Amino acid sequence: MKKLTSLIALIFVCQISNAQFGLTPAQRDSINRLTEADYNQMLSQLGIDKGQIRRGPSGNPKDLNAANSDESKVNQYVLSDPLVLKNGKKVSSVKVWNEQRRPEIVKDFENEVYGKLPENIPGVNWQVVYIRDTLIGNFPIKEKLLKGIVDNSAYPKINVVINLLVATPLDAKRVVPVVMEFGFIKNPFSSGPIKPMGLGGAGEPTWQEQLISRGYGYAILEPSSIQADNGAGLNSGIIGLTNKGQYRKPEEWGSLRAWAWGASRALDYFENDKDIDVTKVAIEGLSRYGKAALVTMAFEPRISLGFIGSSGAGGAKILRRNFGEQVENLASSFEYHWFCGNFIKYTSQKSVADLPVDAHELVAICAPRPVFISSGSPQVEGNWVDAKGMFLGGVHAGPVYKLFGKKDLGATSFPKMGTALVSGELAFRQHAGGHSTGPNWSTWIAWAGKYWD
Ligand code: GCU
Repeated sequence: MKKLTSLIALIFVCQISNAQFGLTPAQRDSINRLTEADYNQMLSQLGIDKGQIRRGPSGNPKDLNAANSDESKVNQYVLSDPLVLKNGKKVSSVKVWNEQRRPEIVKDFENEVYGKLPENIPGVNWQVVYIRDTLIGNFPIKEKLLKGIVDNSAYPKINVVINLLVATPLDAKRVVPVVMEFGFIKNPFSSGPIKPMGLGGAGEPTWQEQLISRGYGYAILEPSSIQADNGAGLNSGIIGLTNKGQYRKPEEWGSLRAWAWGASRALDYFENDKDIDVTKVAIEGLSRYGKAALVTMAFEPRISLGFIGSSGAGGAKILRRNFGEQVENLASSFEYHWFCGNFIKYTSQKSVADLPVDAHELVAICAPRPVFISSGSPQVEGNWVDAKGMFLGGVHAGPVYKLFGKKDLGATSFPKMGTALVSGELAFRQHAGGHSTGPNWSTWIAWAGKYWD
């Protein structure tokens, strides 16, 4: 029963986080129709016939076409070696990694998976909505609400206003490290405060309280204020603004990179905020926002630490592993907008084995900065996120961290639940709760303290 409830909860979260809550059925239909039209348009740009598209497995374990959740049925796959250049030569120095191999990997991710940033992205003007002294739980904080107004003079029909909340301990004597979460400033489900989901019991402080009591700050950045979480929204938001409302080209950015771009703009603001130590800003997110957190870390060198929550496929999970969510799900009309159009090719003309990169290389391009990969328990969270696949994303990034003289995960076989692999710059922990980073916060904060204190 518990299993079923949490599974239903996961499916529920997935559906509502599709930014469709609070919509009337007619509005939802319209979003679906426009999404379908955008998706079909991309198929025609790619020369793909709809009949050629392979459908992904189902997330419901009861369905006949349920995604694989049996370790003994996992396929054999070959991963590219992050330390071998395309010309076959081994990468033997940080210099060759930085100057040759890393750019090769970045280019592949940009062309085939997450898309490229356009050249004409307009600037953001950050404005303070309010600054106030308040409390989070019992802790006094200085809270700022900001709006990042994107210059739309080139196309005034589209407005983009980024929502950002920043809180620092009120008694801070100097600048503090900050964890920025991709999330919701106001609880979209009720008017009460936002509590992380999946916590084992009552009484555990929220993540915000845990950070403040440790002397750190937190920030919440709202992805949907940057770019909508559906294909229908691709002709608006920051992607639509730069395209002047036109369709994307196959190599252009999807929502994950757009959200990551927004995080970079928040960092620009942090550079001028006298309460924040901009050299110590971490990025955190769960699920699709966990994917966004990893993409942010990979492409934004100013991010100091990562907390990558249940990012699954499209995040830290090895895409080639036939377990849980697959590329065919990611590139379906429900989720393709997270990626560039070219990614859809891997569900028709090509297959996952043809991808020039896999998730271990996304983790690797974060090196040498510390990344913590987090997951929940399969009994509670389900197997869709593929906890082991995410662990392996960390394992196979290890050689790149070692090239920098840093420590890898220190394990190659999947650890027992609750084991904290936190002795190095690559860290992993599977907590016993559900689809949440909640139960891993205290472990994460202790690990972060090694780098920040
Ligand atoms: C769906 C999707 C996942 C995603 C999740 C979420 O389950 O398939 O890739 O991580 O939604 O963001 O909640």
